[in-house]
Amino acid sequence: MILLEENMIYEGKAKKVYSTTDPNKIIIYYKDDATAFNSLKKGVIQNKGILNKEITTIIFEYLNSNGINTHLIENINDRAQICTKVDIIPLEVIVRNVVAGSMAKLFMMQEGQVLSEAVIEICYKKDELADPMINDFHAVSLGFATKEDLDNMYEQTKKINTLLKDFFDKIGIILVDFKIEFGKDHQGNIILADEISPDCCRLWDKETKKKLDKDRFRRDLGDIEDAYQEVLKRIKGMTL
Ligand code: TMP
Ligand code: ASP
Repeated sequence: MILLEENMIYEGKAKKVYSTTDPNKIIIYYKDDATAFNSLKKGVIQNKGILNKEITTIIFEYLNSNGINTHLIENINDRAQICTKVDIIPLEVIVRNVVAGSMAKLFMMQEGQVLSEAVIEICYKKDELADPMINDFHAVSLGFATKEDLDNMYEQTKKINTLLKDFFDKIGIILVDFKIEFGKDHQGNIILADEISPDCCRLWDKETKKKLDKDRFRRDLGDIEDAYQEVLKRIKGMTL
C-alpha cells in the first residue's frame, strides 16, 4: 500500500498518521526519528520504526488476548499498521515500578529503588508546555477527561502494568516505568492507543541492569539499535 502525503493528517515526533477510505480507521507509520527533552535533542535511530512497530504489535496482541482493547487492527508493512481512529485523551499516563528518570530527579533519589506499590502519574499532553505533570482535579476541571474516564483509564492501566511486568519478567527484563495513551473510539469506548516500545518504557536487563530503551539515546550511552533489537529478539523468543 502506498501512503500518499496528501492523506497525512498528523505528523508527530516518531510517527505519521494517515487517513483511510474508512472514517473509523487510520494508518500509523513508524519513523526512525528520535527526540528527547521535548525535542531539544534530535536524532535518528536506524530501523527504530521497524523495531517499534514490531514490538508494539506483539505487546498489543498480548494485551488484547488478555482483555485489554487496543487500537491495533492489522499490520500492512514493516513500518505501518491500520488502527482504529480514536480521539486521543490529552493525557500521558505514566506508571512507575522502580524509581528512575524524572521521579529520581524530583525526589533527589538514586535510580533503582523498587516502589512498594506502582505509582501512576498523569501529564497534560502539550508540547508547548513540555507535558506538565497534573493531578485528577486539573484533568477533570480543565476538561481533559471526566472522573469516569479517569477511573476507567486507571483500572486499565493497573491491569496493563500487571500483564506487562509479567511479560517482561519472563524474558529477563525489569519493567522500570512506561508511558501509555488512551483514546475514545467512535462509540465512546476508551481503548489503548499509541505504542508500547523501548521509546516509551524503561527496560533494564534483570541480571546486568543494562538499559535496553531510549535512555541509551537520551543519555548518549551508545548501542541504541542493538538494545531495541535485543528487546525484540527476547520477545520473539518467548512467543515462538
Ligand atoms: P520520565 O521519568 O522522564 O518522566 O519518564 C517516565 C516514562 O515515560 C519513561 O518510561 C519514558 C516515558 N516517556 C515518554 O514516553 N515520553 C515522554 O515524553 C516522557 C517525558 C517520558
Ligand atoms: N518524547 C519526548 C520528546 O521529545 C521525550 C522523551 O521521550 O524523553 O521530546
